[in-house]
Amino acid sequence: MLTIAIRAARNAGDLIQRSSEKIGQLTISKKSKNDFVTEVDRMAEQEIISLIKYAYPDHGIVAEESGETKGNNYTWVIDPLDGTTNYLHGYPQYAVSIALKNKGKTEVGVVYDPLRDELFTAEKGGGAMLNNRRIRVTKQTDLSTALLGTGFPFKYPQHLDAYLNMFKTLTPSTAGIRRAGSAALDLAYLSAGRLDGFWEIGLKEWDMAAGILLVQEAGGVVTDFSFNEHYVKSGNIITGNPKMHQAIYQAIEPFVTEQLK
Ligand code: IPD
Ligand code: CA
Ligand code: CA
Repeated sequence: MLTIAIRAARNAGDLIQRSSEKIGQLTISKKSKNDFVTEVDRMAEQEIISLIKYAYPDHGIVAEESGETKGNNYTWVIDPLDGTTNYLHGYPQYAVSIALKNKGKTEVGVVYDPLRDELFTAEKGGGAMLNNRRIRVTKQTDLSTALLGTGFPFKYPQHLDAYLNMFKTLTPSTAGIRRAGSAALDLAYLSAGRLDGFWEIGLKEWDMAAGILLVQEAGGVVTDFSFNEHYVKSGNIITGNPKMHQAIYQAIEPFVTEQLK
């Protein structure tokens, strides 16, 4: 199943890269640019789904663009292009994200960056890899020298004040905070030790399913804002190595509203 996930992610990634050459021709019209990207999202998703359906006709699917198809105990969770805004602007940070759940538990996760040809893979109990080399979260113990990642809650203005308070507290307490624009890649980078911690409000399951398994298999901790594991339901996550996870949790906890719990 990991082999199929990898093949699907690479096929979609190739399609995304081929299509990126045409984005420049369409930048004249903003509308067609958006339409074009929607088309790339949709085509990449179809590429992934047709491969999965061919290999596993009975499996269920939850995909960002085409929704849910019920199946047996297995469900594939697909974001064909994570970082669409970046892709649209030629900002080189986007990825394909594919996860496979068995009875609700993620067993396989693949995040593929087609631009850098970086393939992040994880299997439950089997560790996390980047291009077939084992990866681990950092051993960082000090928040003041840590590099954190985050995402802005641009779709949720009701959480902006709470978020900005978290940001205000963490900015002077860390070595830096990055907002790169692809949650799937943020989590993959954390699993590869390129970030020490990460938090975001309002993610969808397809943004994070593969990335969360990567982080866990690389030795990281993932929770929601209440220190529980209901992050898929709330969409809110805090993650890092155990020390950094704890440090971020403590820093943002005073600003976690009832709605964010
Ligand atoms: C988005 C990216 C971004 C995150 C947004 C997501 P999309 O996914 O992961 O980093 O902040 O919440 O919606 O729309 O580009 O697939
Ligand atoms: Ca996404
Ligand atoms: Ca997407």
